[in-house]
Amino acid sequence: MRILGISGSLRRDSYNTKLLREAGRLLPPGAELVEFDGLKAVAPYDADDEASPVPPRGVFELRAAIAEADAILIATPEYNHSIPGVLKNAIDWASRPPDQPFRGKPVAMAGASMGGFGTARAQYHLRQTCVYLDMLPLNKPEVFVSAAHQKVDAEGRLTDEPSRTALRALLEALSVWTRRLRSS
Ligand SMILES: Cc1cc2nc3c(=O)[nH]c(=O)nc-3n(C[C@H](O)[C@H](O)[C@H](O)COP(=O)(O)O)c2cc1C
Repeated sequence: MRILGISGSLRRDSYNTKLLREAGRLLPPGAELVEFDGLKAVAPYDADDEASPVPPRGVFELRAAIAEADAILIATPEYNHSIPGVLKNAIDWASRPPDQPFRGKPVAMAGASMGGFGTARAQYHLRQTCVYLDMLPLNKPEVFVSAAHQKVDAEGRLTDEPSRTALRALLEALSVWTRRLRSS
C-alpha cells in the first residue's frame, strides 16, 4: 500500500514534516510512505496557466504523485486557524479537471503546532475541502499534536508516547480503511 505523505510546511525544521517522517516509521506491515517534497515548486494557481502550452511548474509531478498513491496522509500546520496557503495552492491545482486525482482517494490527516489546539481548526478546514473534492477522509482517530516543541527531540523524533500511539492508530485505521474501500 503506497501512502503519499504531504507536509503542509516548507520550513526546514517543521514539526509537521517531522510528524510525517515519524509516521513513516510507525507504519503497519504492507504499507510504505512516500514523501512528496515538491510543494515549494508548485506554481501559484493562475487559471490562465491551465490553458497554457507550457505546463505550470510542479503541477504535473503533484498530480502524478496523487494518482499513483493508494492513500494520502497530510500533516498540516495551522496558519491563522486554517491550512497554509502553499498546501491550499497545491490542492487547488490538483483539483482541476480533467481527471482530478483526489476523487475516491482515502485520506488521513494529522498536525502539530506549538499552541494548545494541535491544528484542530486547520484540520477541520482541510476536511471540508477533502469532502468537496470527493476524497474519502478517515474520520477517526484525530491526531492533534499540541505543544509540539516539547514532544519532538533534537534528532527530530516524536518522543511523546500518547502522540506516537495516536499516530500509529491513525496509520492502522488508514490501512484498514484503504483496504476496505479497495475491496468494495
Ligand atoms: C502565518 C502564521 C500563522 C499561524 N497561525 C497559527 C494558528 O492559527 N494556530 C496555531 O496553533 N499556530 C499558528 N501559527 C504557529 C504555527 O503553528 C507554528 O509556527 C508551527 O510550528 C508551524 O508548523 P511547522 O513547524 O510544521 O512549520 C502560525 C504561524 C504562522 C507563520
